[in-house]
Amino acid sequence: MVTQKNRDIRLKSRPVGLPTLDNFELVEGEIPHLGSGQILVRNLFMSVDPYMRGRMMDRKSYVPPFQIGEVLQGGAVGKVMVSNGNGEFAAGDYVLGMDGWREWFVSSGAGLQKVDPAIAPIQAYLGALGMPGLTAYAGLLRVGELKKTDRVFVSAASGAVGAVVCQIARNKGCEIVVGSAGTDEKCAYLTQELGCTAAINYRDCGDLGAALADAMPGGVDVYFDNVGGSHLTAALDNMNTFGRIVACGMIEIYNATEPPRGPYNLANIVGRSLTMRGFIVLNHLDMLPAFQRDMGEWIAAGKMTWRETILDGIERAPEALIGLFKGDNFGKMLVKLAEENGG
Ligand SMILES: NC(=O)c1ccc[n+]([C@@H]2O[C@H](COP(=O)([O-])OP(=O)(O)OC[C@H]3O[C@@H](n4cnc5c(N)ncnc54)[C@H](OP(=O)(O)O)[C@@H]3O)[C@@H](O)[C@H]2O)c1
Repeated sequence: MVTQKNRDIRLKSRPVGLPTLDNFELVEGEIPHLGSGQILVRNLFMSVDPYMRGRMMDRKSYVPPFQIGEVLQGGAVGKVMVSNGNGEFAAGDYVLGMDGWREWFVSSGAGLQKVDPAIAPIQAYLGALGMPGLTAYAGLLRVGELKKTDRVFVSAASGAVGAVVCQIARNKGCEIVVGSAGTDEKCAYLTQELGCTAAINYRDCGDLGAALADAMPGGVDVYFDNVGGSHLTAALDNMNTFGRIVACGMIEIYNATEPPRGPYNLANIVGRSLTMRGFIVLNHLDMLPAFQRDMGEWIAAGKMTWRETILDGIERAPEALIGLFKGDNFGKMLVKLAEENGG
């Protein structure tokens, strides 16, 4: 019998600028009642992702905004503790779904998928083997139309998406792959462990455009943009003719309180015949089988690695989300909610 309480995190107020801990509320309550045919799941890991900042604002987007007073949502991996006659899920199964920001939940199983802990640690399904990994894969290969002769620049390159992008580019035969990140330690990781040919610490490199020109004297064919703003400006000045810009994210402006100034050099798109294309990973789920096949092969061949920053306890989830905008994470940012046995 389950005797614990359930805790969840709710949106208390909408942030202005960088969120603060005051924007969140930790609420303790009862574990939901388990009905016939349902499963009771103990979340073990939950994800925090930059897009969640957008959902904290009351505006129309590709996902609806979080509502004040309601439990937040996001990716989580949990373990089925009790199955009350559910035909699909049994006690002991590990499941991936969008019921994060809470310790326990009851479900019919709709929207959940089983994950196999024998293939990788379960939290990897929130990172390299999950949504961020697929974002890297679809963004680089389909949206960026990567060719092995391309010279590739990646921003936020040590993060969940960026680290996978760097390695896919190398695995696909690209000889010049340059990443940018916010610390020397992250930059060393890019060159020593992810196969980047050079790395730029954007915080202390001076003029980012000049640093990029130094790091990639032959110019950039594909820019995988996780940052926008100053990084996009720097990339535009270094793009080769017919280059492609993959607009994956623009984290530099997610907390802006004033309309951000656009890159002043968009005319490069005309003069250099560039293509800039945005995308949302949810529109590329058809690539999941190919992604899983390729990732499985790369992992087995020792050609895909990742890092995680894990904070302990649901009460630290707000801190984890805020940390994404300060570069507190090295690799995928996760929150651990319970031990594998559910305790
Ligand atoms: N299009 C899609 O479907 C999709 C899906 C997933 C993610 N994304 C986007 O992909 C990007 C990366 O997401 P992720 O989940 O992999 O996060 P992440 O890279 O693991 O974490 C965010 C990182 O961004 C960097 N950063 C934060 N503020 C910055 C700033 N002002 N300038 C430069 N770098 C900054 C920090 O690293 P440093 O220490 O290096 O600064 C931080 O660690 C985000 O823009 C996200 O919105 C898009």
